[in-house]
Amino acid sequence: MEPNFQALRKEFPVLARKTYLNSGSYCALANDVKAAFDAYMEDRLLVGANWDMWITKNESVRALTATLLHASPDEIAVTASVSAGLNAIASALDFKGTRNKVVISDFEFPTNAQIWHAQEPRGAHVVHVPRAPDGYIPLENFAKAIDDKTLIVAITHVCFRNGAKLDIPGIVRLARAHGALVLLDCYQAVGSLDIDVKSLDLDFAAGGMLKYLLGTAGIGFLYVRDSIIRSLLPTNSGWFAQANIGAMDITANRPAPSARRFEAGTPPVVNCYAAEAGLKFLLAVGTPAIEKRNQALTRRCMERLREIDWPSVTPEQDERRGATVAVPSRNSGGLSAELMKQDIVTSHRDDNVRASFHFYNDMDDVESFIAAMQKLRGSFGPR
Ligand SMILES: Cc1ncc(COP(=O)(O)O)c(C=O)c1O
Repeated sequence: MEPNFQALRKEFPVLARKTYLNSGSYCALANDVKAAFDAYMEDRLLVGANWDMWITKNESVRALTATLLHASPDEIAVTASVSAGLNAIASALDFKGTRNKVVISDFEFPTNAQIWHAQEPRGAHVVHVPRAPDGYIPLENFAKAIDDKTLIVAITHVCFRNGAKLDIPGIVRLARAHGALVLLDCYQAVGSLDIDVKSLDLDFAAGGMLKYLLGTAGIGFLYVRDSIIRSLLPTNSGWFAQANIGAMDITANRPAPSARRFEAGTPPVVNCYAAEAGLKFLLAVGTPAIEKRNQALTRRCMERLREIDWPSVTPEQDERRGATVAVPSRNSGGLSAELMKQDIVTSHRDDNVRASFHFYNDMDDVESFIAAMQKLRGSFGPR
């Protein structure tokens, strides 16, 4: 049975005041997540340092993330950010041999390019897969870049600039044919669609909790395939990455046998409370239903944009986009600010305004956005 999406809107108070189309940047706050923050404050006020509870919360986030990704809890590191997870992986890779190539794409979020370029002094050869003239990146461009020298293909799932989804199964097949590892930066996808790391055959997946996972900033995750965990020794480490955290051993580095070896220091305790509540909410709604809903909302939004003669730059086929519709403007920052004056919350990147949908949006939100855009087309339309 389909979830009652309309009833769920009441759980997000901001929706009574704003047309909230900003989940690709930061989600709307759910009552449950606010209550989780409050519970942390109560603990601090009345219990003090509730370490047993805090460790339980951290482990709960690990287990819920594993459920979300169809992985096992031992394959999940709870990190402070995507960047922290990527740095831990990069620190464990050896770029000294002939297999030193890192293939990334022109669709990457900066951190998944900068961190690989930061490995150049260690021998990494970073190659960018370019866009085609239509603005998207076809599989043949990856085929030209991935070869027997490729150590890792590190790619985004959905592009934060234009909402286009890469052909992940196709890219994974190419990487496998050449013995390369695959890392998916799924931050712009996770929670907005269903992700199965096993059926996608990924080695690594990184994301965070502040967008479609309904949580907060300062907490993320890293999935590492079980069969490769123990072959990787991160030099980015810390006491929470040790096999026995309580041992307090200062004579050696003894990494955990699980993906916890990619963690570092004290967990982001308050963020664990919020992330746990967000993940529970999202899993109760269900990612397959959310994916269908987001496809319907984005499809409708794109149809309506074509009707007002202001087409988006996001792919039209459902399977080729995430939950963001990117609309070109000659002044995207100005347009986003004007929309905000009308209580329509969007974001902007490059020359595009981004309208990011989630299950708590509805077709009325699409119509509010379109009505405002129609009025602003004269001043802010495409170049
Ligand atoms: C695709 C993608 N990757 C990574 C990030 C940021 O990651 P971090 O958690 O390191 O700030 C973002 C943030 O917007 C993103 O959209």
